[in-house]
Amino acid sequence: MNRTTIAVALLGVLSANVFADSSDTPWVFRGTVAYVAPNDDSGPVLGNDGVNVDSSLGLGLSLTYMVNTNWGVELLAATPFTHDIVGTGALAGLDIGEAKQLPPTLSLTYNWGDTTRYHVGAGINYTEFFQEKTSSALTSALGAQSTALKLNSSWGLSLQVGFDTPISENWDLSATVYLKDIDTKADVFVNGAKATTVDVQIDPVVWTLGVSTRF
Ligand code: NI
Repeated sequence: MNRTTIAVALLGVLSANVFADSSDTPWVFRGTVAYVAPNDDSGPVLGNDGVNVDSSLGLGLSLTYMVNTNWGVELLAATPFTHDIVGTGALAGLDIGEAKQLPPTLSLTYNWGDTTRYHVGAGINYTEFFQEKTSSALTSALGAQSTALKLNSSWGLSLQVGFDTPISENWDLSATVYLKDIDTKADVFVNGAKATTVDVQIDPVVWTLGVSTRF
């Protein structure tokens, strides 16, 4: 998505009158390392056992349009995160598979502070899962010919708190922590037929650390 596309998307969210007091440098760009730590829970998979979704590291990019000194609209994007999925209960230690996810988030943020700027925000998170794979360990543990996994996309609330503090004339050190409500349904296929659907709550804490700049 190019800058114009993002700008048009953000403009659509805002009413025209709030643009009256936009500052001269309304854009804030943040480039960070992002660590996704799921606080997960799942329903039983083919019995009384569940799955855990492991943490993942990626690159987080966000662009904020500052409507005025205090209010901003932030679009958070990221490179895909790859999560290992492992069993719990009687499946403990079993490598179930892996999945990639992209969690774009649109948030309204409130910003304050002088040299160091702080922000809190709330928004909507959309998570798309793709390239789900099951392990050969799962297939043989189930005595199956083949297994497959499909994770359904998710809409949920995102909350955040963070700060930016100057490290040079044009760049700030930037850190933000997000709480995201990500709940998905995992369809488990055995020998080509859907064997079960499992509710999986991922609900991660996402830590981002990097740099930011205004333009
Ligand atoms: Ni949840």
